[in-house]
Amino acid sequence: MAIPRETVEQILQAARIEEVVGEFVTLKKRGSNMWGNCPFHNEKTPSFSVNPARNIFKCFGCGKAGDSAKFLMEHEHFSYPEALRYLAKKYNIKIEEKEQTAEEIMQQSIREKMFNINEFADKYFVDTLWNTDEGKTIGLQYFRERGYFDPIIQKFHLGYSPAEWDAFTKHAKQNGYSEELLEQIGLSIKGQKGLYDRYHGRVMFPIHSLTGRVIGFGGRILVNDKKSPKYQNSPESEIYDKKQTLYGIYFAKNAIAKQDECILVEGYFDVLRMHQIGIENVVASSGTSLTMEQIRLVKRYTKNITMLYDGDAAGIHAALRGTDMILSEGMNVRVVVLPPEHDPDTFGKEFSVEYVSNYLKDNAKDFVRFKTELLLKDAQNDPIKRGQVIRDIVETISVIPDSIFRITYVKECSRLLDMPEQTLTNELNKILRVKFKKSLGVEDNVVNETETATVTTPKQDETIEDQLPAGYYQERELVKLLLMYGQTTINDERIDEDGQKVYEQVTVAQFIIDDLKNDGFSFTNAVNRKIFDIFDHAIDEGRIPDDQFFTSNEDETIAQLAVDLLSSPYKLDQWEKYGIFVKQEENVLRATVLSSIYRYKDLIIEERRKVVEEELKTTEDMDDQLILLKRKKDLDDIRKQINKELGIVIAR
Ligand code: CTP
Ligand code: MN
Repeated sequence: MAIPRETVEQILQAARIEEVVGEFVTLKKRGSNMWGNCPFHNEKTPSFSVNPARNIFKCFGCGKAGDSAKFLMEHEHFSYPEALRYLAKKYNIKIEEKEQTAEEIMQQSIREKMFNINEFADKYFVDTLWNTDEGKTIGLQYFRERGYFDPIIQKFHLGYSPAEWDAFTKHAKQNGYSEELLEQIGLSIKGQKGLYDRYHGRVMFPIHSLTGRVIGFGGRILVNDKKSPKYQNSPESEIYDKKQTLYGIYFAKNAIAKQDECILVEGYFDVLRMHQIGIENVVASSGTSLTMEQIRLVKRYTKNITMLYDGDAAGIHAALRGTDMILSEGMNVRVVVLPPEHDPDTFGKEFSVEYVSNYLKDNAKDFVRFKTELLLKDAQNDPIKRGQVIRDIVETISVIPDSIFRITYVKECSRLLDMPEQTLTNELNKILRVKFKKSLGVEDNVVNETETATVTTPKQDETIEDQLPAGYYQERELVKLLLMYGQTTINDERIDEDGQKVYEQVTVAQFIIDDLKNDGFSFTNAVNRKIFDIFDHAIDEGRIPDDQFFTSNEDETIAQLAVDLLSSPYKLDQWEKYGIFVKQEENVLRATVLSSIYRYKDLIIEERRKVVEEELKTTEDMDDQLILLKRKKDLDDIRKQINKELGIVIAR
């Protein structure tokens, strides 16, 4: 159920970051911040800071940062609504749920009834396994023969459903459960002679939700019967949505977060085996192909997925299918292929935990390698097939949202395919451009190159930092001033039309935005521009958003940037470093703002000037040359003016 917007704001405002974090981390006050050992990575000296004034946290070691809700999502693995509910409870804020309709109340009680009957069935299957002759000699015996020990059988609530056609159905009816519910949840099936057990004669695997409630079952047949499938699974219901479920997530989630890796296998037994040998960050997609929802579920705990699949053709195919989806979520995928005769279950049974761990370590290949090598083996020296391989791989790389990772993969691929990096980059940019146009819904319009050509091949010795566009840091500087002092007023000194000096009080936000807009400037970086636009609109409406608006912003990229920028204090007194003393406090801010604007403009102009100079070199037409020379002089004049103003600001 949705929490109303006003309530969300109320909750976030009430939440004191030092109190929320303080429940999990011991904090000590030092300066205006509080410090502790980071709960998200191992450390001995505190680099985890909490800023009560700004109501945010940031770890200077691992970089995790955000507001109270973000902290709970990271630390407790809550979803956003769960975090808000936790905070609402802590601060006694009543969440006005939407009034429930009669239908919703019905739905609610159906869900409760379903959880109820599943819990009842779970107890019955477990009890039958351990405490009846049939259960012990057939079910328990089966698990033990396959090499499973009692603790793992107990931990996963494995069970047994008797061979008799309707043993469970009878038992459930005697205990007051309706036929309708039994059929709805799928524990029973309606046959010609009435209801019978879906799982009769099978060993049972309860499927747990994230919070450990039983939402469904899988049952494995014990006899060789060509007519019935090896596994029977619950049909979908109000409480069981297959595409949102991963088998074992309840038992694996802590290990996944701690090890910052999730190992993905196919089957129930694969999960059990890994747990038994002590590898607990393992979940199964249960034979179906991976869904986006399942990937997002994993993403709550880690960004790293390792797919561990059978060494046969089907296993390899399954691994290939999932990768693009995982990559497009900005996650890292690695693939481990087992020897052809094994699946994770038999592999873990045959070898020691050391051997298995080492095998995983030594054989995990990042997906580009995996896919490239695999496809290349197919293509051999067939040039047409090779061409297809290249397009196929580049297509895969193009789904990765992070440009820095794309560059890395292009490099690796160029080595593996023995192809020049530039060729792959060109191919990639083509695809990205098409995608970008599609996302804008335009067909043939010229697209701003800075948006699409995000993959450039750095020259040797050049770091990624050098690749950042000119003005990057200056732009950040201005964004930081907007976020920190946007609402503060400074004295604006203007010369009006009559040449008179006039003074007025304006906010820093208005000052910066107006000044840049007047001269036709905006920001070039996408996130920065979003922030620019937010301020721009807000000024029109006569209200400047405060820093919390940004640090708690629903746009993750804005929130992240805001927290990062606000976490390092702005040293207004940095001027003294340069031997410049500004007499009055309020003038310091004004001077800082002005000089930041000038520095930014200066850089941009310099860039434009460079472009003109380049053009001059290649232009032979005299008239064109004159025009370019004139433009160059104009730009020089602007720069001179800017530098003069900058000089005045600093000298003051
Ligand atoms: N599966 C299924 N229905 C089937 C076959 C498979 O739901 N008819 C799902 C199960 O979740 C199973 C997974 O796909 O665990 C992988 O299938 P498979 O490798 O055949 O099963 P294993 O788990 O290896 O089971 P076993 O070792 O007992 O054969
Ligand atoms: Mn198996």
